[in-house]
Amino acid sequence: MLEILAPRVERALGIDQSREMLSIARVNLARAGLENGSVRLGDMYQLAVPDASFDAVVIHQVLHYADRPAAAIAEAARVLRPNGVLVVVDFAPHALEFLRDEHAHRRLGFSDAEVAEWCRAAGLDPASPRHLAGDPLTVVIWTAHRHAPTHPRFAQALQPGAPALVEGELH
Ligand SMILES: C[S@@+](CC[C@H](N)C(=O)[O-])C[C@H]1O[C@@H](n2cnc3c(N)ncnc32)[C@H](O)[C@@H]1O
Repeated sequence: MLEILAPRVERALGIDQSREMLSIARVNLARAGLENGSVRLGDMYQLAVPDASFDAVVIHQVLHYADRPAAAIAEAARVLRPNGVLVVVDFAPHALEFLRDEHAHRRLGFSDAEVAEWCRAAGLDPASPRHLAGDPLTVVIWTAHRHAPTHPRFAQALQPGAPALVEGELH
């Protein structure tokens, strides 16, 4: 995700709880010459970044590891600026139990309705999801926007610049 996004934004930050994954990402960023992309050890439930400090947050193939997906979305929403966008990419509901048993997935996909509900609960306005049908797994791209400031702290945080935050790092 960082390799795709960093060339298009002012600054892109990737967060992952795995040091190994971060090492791989650093190598890939260096190889691609993307100096405005960086990575940091962190937890998606407790991002060490200020409120309303990013224009976009991407949670790419991480939510199925979450035992509290609604909390992860709420934390992502916290760091979004007004007019910012959250993008969640993960699986539609499926029945591949081996992903739970052998690959530590906590959830076998997500329904559009539950993701939309978690976004609304976090103060975001969900858009129509995009389904990339596959066999046996369908990938879904859910997007949700933070609209006008609802709290003075968001208004104060409005600044020029367009950093992007990517939760969970790429190989
Ligand atoms: C399938 S990989 C996806 C990595 C990357 N986002 C990508 O798309 O290439 C899932 C990643 O989620 C990370 N992860 C799982 N739970 C996390 C958490 N609570 N906070 C941060 N990262 C987490 C794992 O360390 C792992 O690197």
